[in-house]
Amino acid sequence: MSQPHLRTVVVLAAGEGKRMKSALPKVLHPLLGRTLLGHVLAAAAPLAADRTVVVVGHGADQVRGHLAEVAPEATPVLQERQLGTGHAVRIALDAVPEVTGTVVVINGDVPLLRPETVAALVEAHEGAGAAATVLAAEVPDPTGLGRIVRDADGRLAQIVEERDATPEQRALREINAGIYAFDVARLRDALGKLSTDNDQGEEYLTDVFGLLRDAGEPVAVHCAPDHVETLGCNDRVELAGLRRLLRDRVNEGWMRTGVSILDPHTTWIDVTVRVERDAVIDQNTQLQGATVVGAGAIVGPDTTLIDTTVGEGASVVRSHATGAEVGPRATVGPFAYLRPAAKLAEKAKVGTFVEVKNSEVGPGAKVPHLSYVGDATIGARANIGAATIFVNYDGVKKSRTVVGEAAFVGCDTSLIAPVEVGAGAYIAAGSAISQDVPPGALGVTRAPQRAIEGWVARKRAGTVSAEAAERAREGASGEAGAASEGD
Ligand code: UD1
Ligand code: CA
Repeated sequence: MSQPHLRTVVVLAAGEGKRMKSALPKVLHPLLGRTLLGHVLAAAAPLAADRTVVVVGHGADQVRGHLAEVAPEATPVLQERQLGTGHAVRIALDAVPEVTGTVVVINGDVPLLRPETVAALVEAHEGAGAAATVLAAEVPDPTGLGRIVRDADGRLAQIVEERDATPEQRALREINAGIYAFDVARLRDALGKLSTDNDQGEEYLTDVFGLLRDAGEPVAVHCAPDHVETLGCNDRVELAGLRRLLRDRVNEGWMRTGVSILDPHTTWIDVTVRVERDAVIDQNTQLQGATVVGAGAIVGPDTTLIDTTVGEGASVVRSHATGAEVGPRATVGPFAYLRPAAKLAEKAKVGTFVEVKNSEVGPGAKVPHLSYVGDATIGARANIGAATIFVNYDGVKKSRTVVGEAAFVGCDTSLIAPVEVGAGAYIAAGSAISQDVPPGALGVTRAPQRAIEGWVARKRAGTVSAEAAERAREGASGEAGAASEGD
C-alpha cells in the first residue's frame, strides 16, 4: 500500500458500433467538443498512467489518426477480429509485457464518465488490495447490459451478460458499467483461462471476475455515484440523449461559476470552451472548440462561436464566428460573419451584414453596415461606410488593403487591393479606389454627374415614371406661375 502503484489504462475501442449505421467508427462520433473516445481518455487523464493502450479494430486507421492528434502518448494496439472484450484486453496486455501494478480498463463508449469516478474506483481497488474491481450502477432500465450477481453475503459472485442470464438475474438492476481496475498479474492469469462458452462465442472480460473469485482472489464492486455517468452509446438516439445530459452538466457548471445562461436548453457549450464570470449567454447559442468568452461579455441570442475569443465586456449578437478574435468591449452584429483571423481590437464595431476575414479592425474603428472586409488592416478610429467592399481577390491572387488611423471611407466604396488609404484621409462615397490615397487627402473617382433632360418622356413614354414626371413638371410650372402672379 505504501508503494505507489504503476498504472496502465486500456481503452477498448475496436468495436464497430453497428447500430450507429455510420462510416465513422462509433468511438469517433463527436459529443460537445470531443469524440466519445476523447471523453474517455480525458476521464482517465488524471490517473497519470504510465501507459495508455487503445485497442483499435474497426476503422483502425481513422482511430489511429485521431489518437495521433488528441493523445499522441497513447499506444494503439490492433485487434484484427473482435473476439470479445476479454480477447481485446489480452491483446492489449500482450503489447505491454513489462507493465506491473494496476490496469484500468474502460469501454470506449462511456463519454459521461467523470475523472473523479475513475479515480475513486482505482483508489478503492488499490486501497483494498483487490484482484479486480468493477464499477457498477443501479439503473432504471438495465436492458442489454451485464448484471452484477451478488452472493448471499452481498459480495460479487459473477457478472452475467443479459443474453446468458436467468430470468431472476435479468431482473437485477445493478449493472456492469464497463469500467474496471485489475491487478495486472492476476488479470493476465485469468485472461488465459477464459472460455468462449457463451451465447456470443466470445471471450468475455467479465468472466474474469467469476474466475478470480473461484480461485479465492478478492474481487470488489465499486458503485458509481450517479448512474448517468455510466451510460453507454449504441445508436444515434442514445448519442443525442447523452449530448443533452452533457449539455446540462456543462451549463450547470458554468452557471455555478458565475455565468448567466438565459436558456440552458438551447445553449450548447463544448467541454473545451472557457467562459468567464458575469458573461451572459443568450438563447440558441453554441460555443465550440477553443472558444473563450471574457468576463461580462454578452453572446447571443442565435450565435455560433467556433475557436473564437471574445474579450471582456464585448458583445456578439446573432452572429457566426470561426477562428476570430473580438477585443474587449468590441461589438459584433446583429448578423455578422467573422471568419478565420478576423481580429477586432478594443471597442471596434462590426455591424449588420458585415463579413470580416483575415483582417485587423483597429481600436474604436467601425464597420457598421453591409460590408466585406478581406485581407485588410483598418487603423484605429477609422470609419468604413456602409457597403464598402475590400476587393481583395483579382481572380488569381489575394492582396492587402491598409486603411490608416481615423480615415473616413464613404459609403459604397470599392477599395481595390493592393491599396493604401492614408491616416485621416477621406474617400468620397461611391468611389473605386485602386491607387494609394495620401494622408489627409480626399480620394474620389466619381464621374461628374449629368442630367439628360426629358429622357424618360422620350424613351419611356407611357410608363408610370413618365406620368409622374409629367405631373411634377406641371405642378412645378403651376407653382411658378402662381408665385409670379402673387408677386
Ligand atoms: C459490455 C460488458 C457488459 C457491460 C457493458 C457496459 C462484456 C462481455 N460485457 O457489454 O457487461 O454491461 O459493456 O457498456 O464485456 N470491444 C473491443 N473488442 C471486442 C469487443 C468489444 O474492443 O472484441 C470494445 C467495444 O468497441 C466497446 C467495448 O469493448 O467499446 C464494449 O464492447 P460492447 O460490444 O459494446 O460490449 P457490451 O455488449 O456493451
Ligand atoms: Ca456497449
